[in-house]
Amino acid sequence: MKSIGVFYGSSTGNTEMAAEKICEQLGAFVSHSADVSKAEPEDLLPYDILLLGVSTWNIGEMQDDWDEFIPRMEGLDLSGKQIAFFGMGDAIGYSYNFLDAMGMLWDVVKALGSPDLVGVWPSEEYTFDESLAVHDDGHFIGLGLDEDNEPDLHDERIKGWLVKVMTDCQLIPGA
Ligand SMILES: Cc1cc2nc3c(=O)[nH]c(=O)nc-3n(C[C@H](O)[C@H](O)[C@H](O)COP(=O)(O)O)c2cc1C
Repeated sequence: MKSIGVFYGSSTGNTEMAAEKICEQLGAFVSHSADVSKAEPEDLLPYDILLLGVSTWNIGEMQDDWDEFIPRMEGLDLSGKQIAFFGMGDAIGYSYNFLDAMGMLWDVVKALGSPDLVGVWPSEEYTFDESLAVHDDGHFIGLGLDEDNEPDLHDERIKGWLVKVMTDCQLIPGA
């Protein structure tokens, strides 16, 4: 059985709330969940699958706790791991920088041993102008959540995304 670790950074608690919902829905599949402000980079290493949560701040900038954590990740070997992202942003207030930090975090993580990206998520149902989290035409690199404008969609989006992650990781049979 593959192990799952959830790591997040959250300034006002919204990404933390999403992490809690994710853990609740995953139940016994989750081995560990931690706020990066209280974690060491090596804490990521025991898990086969990492779910990384990040919010975007200050017009396209990294969330503060990740900002401090990232330089400490230098030299970490994440090769062979499967990595999925969930991002928190505001598509109306910051339409030209929606979820940017999620894309920036993937750029950092993929340089640490080229882990596999899992859980890419359709972007069509979001209205925004530009995002560094765009993976390809029609997808974000991970789940997009918008507490400011679409909080009612969190549960459904998280549920659908976790099915995608689990399918990509072959923890449930493919559709
Ligand atoms: C000053 C400020 C700047 C922000 N900048 C962005 C941004 O560039 N892109 C974005 O998608 N969201 C932006 N947001 C929205 C936050 O990401 C959003 O409020 C999120 O829910 C915060 O999550 P957290 O509490 O987990 O940090 C910004 C919010 C504030 C207050």
